[in-house]
Amino acid sequence: MADLSVTLCGVPLKNPVIPASGTFGFGREFNEIYDISVLGAVATKGLTLAPRSGNPVPRIAESGNVVLNAVGLQNPGVESFLKNDLSWLRSKTRVIANVAGSTVEEYGEICARLDGKTDFIELNISCPNVKCGGMAFGVRPADVERVTRTAKDALKSTPLIVKLSPNVESISAVARAAEAGGADGISLVNTFTGMAIDVERRRPVLANNTGGVSGAGIKPIAVRMVYEASRAVNIPVVGMGGIVCAEDAVEFLLAGATAVQVGTHNFTDALACPKIIEGLSRWCEAHGVEKIGALTGALQCN
Ligand SMILES: Cc1cc2nc3c(=O)[nH]c(=O)nc-3n(C[C@H](O)[C@H](O)[C@H](O)COP(=O)(O)O)c2cc1C
Repeated sequence: MADLSVTLCGVPLKNPVIPASGTFGFGREFNEIYDISVLGAVATKGLTLAPRSGNPVPRIAESGNVVLNAVGLQNPGVESFLKNDLSWLRSKTRVIANVAGSTVEEYGEICARLDGKTDFIELNISCPNVKCGGMAFGVRPADVERVTRTAKDALKSTPLIVKLSPNVESISAVARAAEAGGADGISLVNTFTGMAIDVERRRPVLANNTGGVSGAGIKPIAVRMVYEASRAVNIPVVGMGGIVCAEDAVEFLLAGATAVQVGTHNFTDALACPKIIEGLSRWCEAHGVEKIGALTGALQCN
């Protein structure tokens, strides 16, 4: 049996497969289908300071082999998570709390409340910054460094993973900015901004007009970004974007990722993550890989 365990930011995981934020709730519904303790970790839905009901519907739509969503961070708020979900989820596996703020200060406040209580914080810096008129925090390297430093200063003991937006000029520059701000790791990609139009109604499909594109079709762009970002920094990288099978996960590992997240495919196949874990085990055995960590960054470029 191949050894699937990995160490992410100093924390041991039993395997590198993690359901991605926003596609797995807090794990309870999936745990009715399989025992989620098989997972390397779970990334929670994005947590905000106050509960949010999200955007008007329709807020999720299929388009070809991708999905568009503009859910708008519907979540019960950080206090509810701490009270109702955290201890159950921690009894199952490692917990990555995904955090979203509407101001830099709010990111710091949420991190301070979570410090020492979860295994990792994942900072979602793709949210619109309401104070700056809708610009995302994750676009300009100077903003990325500032929000990272604020979060890091609020954390005494929990490793900080900064989740990068792919809607940027240079993924290497924002990756380096996160590292400069004190990130212990980075994860990417979040969704690509997109739009789908109902031609009969001549209206955008989503009530929000635009949304984030995810799913199988984004994988080659995501792999390229993980490849570039992992070469720009000396901190571990968590890769995601369009993973539907073990071979897809191996691509991200070879490109430089230490662990991977599976998002949209959880909607197509509720057993996606355990199937990918089993597939990775088979793949490693078939390819003589004794320890999966040996694949990280093992790409041989032409
Ligand atoms: C419905 C939906 C909700 C999401 N919510 C969040 C979120 O709250 N926080 C976050 O960082 N990413 C969120 N994401 C982005 C995913 O975590 C992931 O980065 C992205 O979907 C790419 O991976 P995939 O192609 O495997 O889905 C969401 C994605 C979807 C489809």
